[in-house]
Amino acid sequence: MSTKKKPREMTGAELKSMLKSSINFKSLGGLKVPGLKLSEEDMAWWRDAKFGMFIHWGLYSILGRGEWVMHAEKIPAEEYAKLADEFKPQKFDANEWASIAKEAGMKYMVMVAKHHDGFALWDSPGSYNKFNSMATGAKRDFIKEYVEACRNAGLRVGLYYSPMDWRFPGYFHPKELLDNALLMKKQCYDQVEELMTQYGKIDILWYDGGWLAHKGDDTTSAWLWEPDKLNKMVKSHNPKVVVNPRSGWEGDFYCDEGSHEITGKIIPVPWEKNLCIGSGTSWGWIPDDPIMTQKEAITMLVNVFVRDGNVLLNVGPDKDGVIPEEAVHRLKEIGKWMNKNGESVYGTRGGPFEPVDRVYGSTYNKNIIYLHILDMDEFRKLKLPAMETNIVKCTVLGGSEVGFNQSAEGITIDIPQELTSPIDTIIKMELDKEFSKKPGEDIYFTGR
Ligand code: GLC
Repeated sequence: MSTKKKPREMTGAELKSMLKSSINFKSLGGLKVPGLKLSEEDMAWWRDAKFGMFIHWGLYSILGRGEWVMHAEKIPAEEYAKLADEFKPQKFDANEWASIAKEAGMKYMVMVAKHHDGFALWDSPGSYNKFNSMATGAKRDFIKEYVEACRNAGLRVGLYYSPMDWRFPGYFHPKELLDNALLMKKQCYDQVEELMTQYGKIDILWYDGGWLAHKGDDTTSAWLWEPDKLNKMVKSHNPKVVVNPRSGWEGDFYCDEGSHEITGKIIPVPWEKNLCIGSGTSWGWIPDDPIMTQKEAITMLVNVFVRDGNVLLNVGPDKDGVIPEEAVHRLKEIGKWMNKNGESVYGTRGGPFEPVDRVYGSTYNKNIIYLHILDMDEFRKLKLPAMETNIVKCTVLGGSEVGFNQSAEGITIDIPQELTSPIDTIIKMELDKEFSKKPGEDIYFTGR
């Protein structure tokens, strides 16, 4: 018998106060479907994993003007379709992608299987007009190669799928051209089923674009897509697949998208920040896209981890399937940082201290708190909040012991300047017993 309490809806002033941050969740208010959402236990691997690689790669990578190029430049579908014969990537090597992700310290990958242009990167019988990589130029099933490469590298496998498809006039006029819109819907169901059945166990399904006619959001077009039905089918094949909220069903986690800085309180639900390693002007490859600095990257990661989120960092390989050199270089630097400081990230949860924006935040695991200090000068002016559990020892992660003072007024730590790190100084605080958060309350939001 399950003793689990019913989830509590967070609304009003409480929700407002919690979301007093730069975090902006997309697609709030999706349909609720009893029994479909994964339990905390089933989500644990995903929360422990913390960091994944997002990959946008497709026909748009040939043009190099962003994955929205077909729509933005009003390229007619027949014209755009010709790119499929040109798409013969010479250097595509899924094992190479997986090894780059692994070296960066990532634990999962999410590859775009089909974006809004409709081109499917796998052998897809359900693809409308055979618009897929097996039936055209490349004659390859890229998803198959990718899934195998992830598994060989020990990475969890994620797939991105866009239900909407610009090739269908019914997408733009769903009420007037309902038959055509239903054809698009059939393609979606058929293709999602292919992805959920042809490649073994899929760990993550990442939707984007369950809207219609670029109006409303993923939640207002449920009358056509019936995301409850769609995701029941998904979970009948892959019961434990972790699904994002962007199909119009509430999903298993929340999404914040884009390059904006992350501030505010700890978010007590599974959530993921997805952003580009480049300028963020395009998710697909564009030439000479400036890559974020190491400081920007690490700061972003830390700001998300201390607020209990995951990071899905996007790269756009070029038309040949090569991830730009500068991005690979940055990923390797991130990997070195993750490798050195991994114990303060993997398997941890955000807290117990509420972050102070741009100054510090913390993660914890059992009887250890990892304090991440981003601004030492400011930190020295502050006291950490008092805590009932006793601290036994503080060390700079991987280094020397440092002094501390714990009292009813709060906690101070003496960190000599020579032990600080330029971006993030991590202090490992060992407690005399396991720090336990109050039993997790099941909370959901339905809107701002
Ligand atoms: C935005 C972009 C889309 C991209 C997605 C990734 O919605 O418009 O092209 O795939 O972000 O989250």
